[in-house]
Amino acid sequence: MSTPKVAVITGSSRGIGKVLALRLARQGVNVVVNYKKSADLAAQTLQEIRDAGADGITVQADIETAEGVNALFDAVIEHYPRIDAFVSNAAASAFKAIDDIKPHHLERCINMNVRPFVLGAQRAAHLMSEGGRIVVVTSYGSQRAFPTYALLGAAKAADEALVRYMAAEYGPRNITVNAVNGGLIDTDSLDFFYHKVPGMAPMQTVLEKIPLRRPGTADDMAAAVDFLLSENAGYISGQVLSVDGGLTIVAPPYWADTTAPLRDAVERPHHDTEK
Ligand SMILES: NC(=O)c1ccc[n+]([C@@H]2O[C@H](COP(=O)([O-])OP(=O)(O)OC[C@H]3O[C@@H](n4cnc5c(N)ncnc54)[C@H](OP(=O)(O)O)[C@@H]3O)[C@@H](O)[C@H]2O)c1
Repeated sequence: MSTPKVAVITGSSRGIGKVLALRLARQGVNVVVNYKKSADLAAQTLQEIRDAGADGITVQADIETAEGVNALFDAVIEHYPRIDAFVSNAAASAFKAIDDIKPHHLERCINMNVRPFVLGAQRAAHLMSEGGRIVVVTSYGSQRAFPTYALLGAAKAADEALVRYMAAEYGPRNITVNAVNGGLIDTDSLDFFYHKVPGMAPMQTVLEKIPLRRPGTADDMAAAVDFLLSENAGYISGQVLSVDGGLTIVAPPYWADTTAPLRDAVERPHHDTEK
């Protein structure tokens, strides 16, 4: 019997991180469940990991601080001599127009969304004695500009640039580094963005522009990360994989804004081929 693999996922007490943790657990991967506040949810996630037939640990560590990232990996090495995967998943930011961004917003955004990826990848790579996989979870604000997302979008863009540098430098150690870039994904954070940011455009105006006409799910994201962590993705490195239902490939004028007769061309449930 081979030794079970080990994955470290930041922010895996809930949301995309948790769904990914359970996916990996079903494949027999042991998971390090990191969280900041929700000890109960983290414990529940670990229980579900065990119910799925794997094991793991929970680690409370605030990755917004360098000490927190080190505490996370210090806890990892107390339990596991080596790891196979590191997923930099947890994120947070203020949502502001450029003119409203204060120095502390900038500092916190970098500390929360860029520094933990770099410091975490350094510690993780050191523990990947038999090669490994690193994935960072980003979002479409890294490449497109939409209201109040400047700070987090810029941080995610930095992460995607770092993916390429890390892929180049860690490749010789047989470590792949990639990003999964999410569109509009149905989670607690999405609810916050559309319902708590004053004046935000209604989510429906975005949903109707997405070619697949639905929000993504946490499992859509977890499936893509799972793929990049898998044997099947062994020769893929330095890439950004978009999981957005086509949101970022469309441009104005949108099909959603067209009217009859043009609109009928894409709204017909079963496109008939009769001339
Ligand atoms: N939701 C979307 O629409 C969407 C779209 C595209 C990309 N993404 C990206 O997907 C990733 C996951 O997003 P999500 O919405 O599932 O969850 P999230 O809100 O980014 O993260 C929730 C998880 O992160 C933990 N966390 C928060 N701050 C932390 C800190 N300082 N230290 C350690 N852990 C911390 C939380 O722990 P506690 O439970 O203890 O608070 C929880 O486990 C993010 O990178 C996000 O940018 C999301």
